Amino acid sequence: MINKSVVVAHISDLHFAGRNDRRSISMLGRMLEHLAERRVDHLVITGDLCNAAAVGEWAVMRDVLRDFGFWSWEQTTVLPGNHDLINLEEEMRIYNALNPFSESRRTVLQERVAAFCSMFGELMADGSDGGAGFPFVKVLRFSSLSLAFVAVNSVWPWHRSENPLGARGFVDPSELKALLRLDVAEALKGCFVVGLCHHALRVYGTLSPIDQAFDWTMELINRDEYVAVMKAIRANVVLHGHFHRFQAYELEGIAVVNGGSFRYVPDRYSEMVIGERGEFSQRFVDLPSARK
Ligand SMILES: [Fe+2]
Repeated sequence: MINKSVVVAHISDLHFAGRNDRRSISMLGRMLEHLAERRVDHLVITGDLCNAAAVGEWAVMRDVLRDFGFWSWEQTTVLPGNHDLINLEEEMRIYNALNPFSESRRTVLQERVAAFCSMFGELMADGSDGGAGFPFVKVLRFSSLSLAFVAVNSVWPWHRSENPLGARGFVDPSELKALLRLDVAEALKGCFVVGLCHHALRVYGTLSPIDQAFDWTMELINRDEYVAVMKAIRANVVLHGHFHRFQAYELEGIAVVNGGSFRYVPDRYSEMVIGERGEFSQRFVDLPSARK
């Protein structure tokens, strides 16, 4: 019997600027063509698909994925980033004009999450429990192994002092608690477990005040709680984006991969090859430069 490895491609932070963003559309087409040629088993996109939380523009991403055969639950998994859910300009304008309570910003975010799930739900949950939402667990059965994606929404509402750029992340404790349920443990039994989160688990982390200020604007506020849950569910690897660097590192015994930014480096992706006994390797792959 031939042992077949499962290959997962990972990109992040595409920051599509709508239907007129021809460069990004064409570069994504090129990437998807390459991934299809290589017959990757699955594609993961860890958020910031679009740039300005313009719900009307999300269909562009759907159309490109569809055109290249990546619009299916079996083929692709996506989750939102802050740029998909928070329109910074709108937040500031509305805040200045109406001085809303922060609770209203939370409501706006929840509405955007629901809209995202309605557009991309086909790539998230299997719909058996009444539609997509967070957290979600998606188990793919391959002949050689079962692969489980465990995704949370880490986008935190905009707030003028606590989250002025909308880029600080927070995973709702109810999501983390839900992942510790017995039925989740049951679903993950025997699977290679991949945690998915938009926000970075590590930014600069230096003592430099400038780096620390930047870290604050970008951080996943309850990272330690998130990592503890990833450990509890025995995640083999966590994939994220947000901080536009291609990185592979380890955090408390868990392998972590930052899928970088497709917007700035559209010809590189992360590839993970997983063997039937859960052994895996990861590397960043550059697309061939010259194509007809
Ligand atoms: Fe982001």
